[in-house]
Amino acid sequence: MIALDIINKKKNKIELSNEEINFFVNGFTKKEIPDYQMSSLLMAILLNGMSELEISNLTEIMMHSGDVVDLSSIKGIKLDKHSTGGVGDKTSLVLGPIVASCGGIVSKMSGRGLGHTGGTIDKLESIPNFNCFLSIDEFKNVINKIGISIIGQTDSLVPADKAIYSLRDATGTVDSLPLIASSIMSKKLATGSDAILLDIKCGNGAFMKDLESAQKLGNIMIKIGRSLKKDIRVEITNMNQPLGIMIGNKNEIIEVIRTLSNKGESNFVKLCLSSASTMLVQAGIAKNELEGEKIAKESLLSGKALAKFYEFIEAQGGDVEAIKDPLFWNPSNKIEVLATENGFLEIYDSLVFGNVALKLGAGRKTKTDKIDFEAGIELNKITNDHVKIGDILFTLYSTKVIDLSLIKELNLGYKINNKVISNKIILDKIK
Ligand code: URA
Repeated sequence: MIALDIINKKKNKIELSNEEINFFVNGFTKKEIPDYQMSSLLMAILLNGMSELEISNLTEIMMHSGDVVDLSSIKGIKLDKHSTGGVGDKTSLVLGPIVASCGGIVSKMSGRGLGHTGGTIDKLESIPNFNCFLSIDEFKNVINKIGISIIGQTDSLVPADKAIYSLRDATGTVDSLPLIASSIMSKKLATGSDAILLDIKCGNGAFMKDLESAQKLGNIMIKIGRSLKKDIRVEITNMNQPLGIMIGNKNEIIEVIRTLSNKGESNFVKLCLSSASTMLVQAGIAKNELEGEKIAKESLLSGKALAKFYEFIEAQGGDVEAIKDPLFWNPSNKIEVLATENGFLEIYDSLVFGNVALKLGAGRKTKTDKIDFEAGIELNKITNDHVKIGDILFTLYSTKVIDLSLIKELNLGYKINNKVISNKIILDKIK
């Protein structure tokens, strides 16, 4: 087979065979096919798309490019959840303990944050001594013991995606539906879970800017999962504004504890309970979402979910006393952003908030950047809160001295209206 022939086929909108995709992906991963030819194929895919068969073949080939985790020694339905990337997205850390405290088995592998989106692994690493890189045997042991473990993806998992993703980043080919679907699903399927809930973020802080493309991506991922006999459910959620009231790392851990103590922001709680209800249905613990939500809510109100969160932190070596200490999050610098008008706040661009948090030090621009766990943003007011001139809207935190120009930058992400707006968190659910 010749790489150029395959590029030309895709350029001419002809469907690629399984063998051709396999030749290209594995040849590239083994460095036998050069970057420039893969870049060309990626652009042809971005422009001409892929059929459902091509996408599911590509996913399966990528999935098998490295280790595939075998969780069959753990009894029961193993549940995973994945978000396509958001700002202030700590959902897994609330949802996982809720589901596990209700009897679900949560086996989750997460990634680090890159750019304006945060990563669950970074948030967990802000906890002293927490070990995100258990061996697979340790991962299974923790799940068997307490019903939940969350670890980082190992380098041996889906090496094809790592190689392809860094090229996509540099060649303007990230925003391709077949490439996003196969990238996400190959990693999720390689981690060995039986049932996966996908939270597709939709809005200006997300890959999917509108509901229609989010639904299209959701339907494709459900089909890929079905072809491999996995139970995939999709929720499409609003990412025009950050989730909850904290963006960062340590401050998001504090918000997780507050939420599990039943003091969470209402839209964020709504999302966690809705996702938990879906996962409890997938686990066969609830007959339907209504029952699932009732069970999840009871666990939250009774403190069972919070106790499970502490158990999970301890099981992976984390210092539980440290996160209960009021000085756990103790940034040395802060500045406040004040309202200059009266009215109702509307945060409409989470990308702006994510980028300001990144500049404060809460995220990384490149994979090797070091995160400042103290850095981040607190939303003192959220969308539809009534505000008066001089009220504190947001507080910016960092270990380093904060550049005042960040206030101006943040101004581009919100406005003050004279009436409240519709503010739904869950836009759609597909199964
Ligand atoms: N997340 C991924 O893992 N891959 C993509 O392509 C987009 C989002």
